[in-house]
Amino acid sequence: KPDPRIEAIKARIQDFPDFPKPGILFRDIFPLFQHPSLCHDVVNVFYEHFVSKYPSTKVDAVLGLDARGFLFAPLLAEKFRANFVAVRKKGKLPGKVVSCDYTLEYGSAEVEIQNHAVSDGQNVIIVDDLLATGGTMNAACLLAKKLKLNIIQCQCVIALTGLNGEKKLPAGIDFYSIVQYE
Ligand code: PRP
Ligand code: ADE
Repeated sequence: KPDPRIEAIKARIQDFPDFPKPGILFRDIFPLFQHPSLCHDVVNVFYEHFVSKYPSTKVDAVLGLDARGFLFAPLLAEKFRANFVAVRKKGKLPGKVVSCDYTLEYGSAEVEIQNHAVSDGQNVIIVDDLLATGGTMNAACLLAKKLKLNIIQCQCVIALTGLNGEKKLPAGIDFYSIVQYE
C-alpha cells in the first residue's frame, strides 16, 4: 500500500533541467521546507524504515553530508538520541581530520570528518538528500571505514537509479531511498 507521506514528499520535489550544467536534471528538495511537516515526514520515514529493519540495533551517530544532508541528519540523530556528525567539504573543519576525494554527477570535491567526533566501532547511519553517481556517499563510506565505524545503513531522500550509484558504494552497504527516479 502506498505511503501518503511518500506521495506528498515526491509531489514537492521540483525538477530543473540543465542545472547546474547542461544535461543535468536537478532534483530540488528545498520546496519541502515550505511545508515544514514534510521535513518531519522525511525524518520519520527514515527512522521507521530503519527501526523496522534493525529493531535491536543501537545507533550511536548519524553522519550528515555537506550541505543538504545537514538539513535532515540532525533531526534524525535526535530521534535516535544519537550524535550528529558533519561530513564536510575540505578545509572547513578544525583539528585532526580524515579526508577522501571523489567525483560527483557535475564535479569533484573532497570530504572530511573530525577524528575526535567519532570513536572505533560506533554504529552509524549516513544521510544525504540525493544519490546520483554515488561518488559523494561512497566517499563518506570510505571515511567511515577509515575511522572503523560500523555503517548500518545509508539513507537518501532521492535516488537517481539510472546512474547506478548504489553499485558504487562499498560491497555490502545497505542503502535506502524514499523516492526513486530512473
Ligand atoms: C549533491 C547532493 C549529493 C551529491 C550527489 O551535492 O546533495 O551530496 O551531489 O551526487 P553524487 O551521487 O553523484 O556524488 P553537491 O556536491 O552539489 O553539494 P551541496 O550539497 O553543497 O549542494
Ligand atoms: N546532485 C547530483 N546530481 C544531482 C541532481 N540531478 N539533482 C540534485 N542534486 C544532485
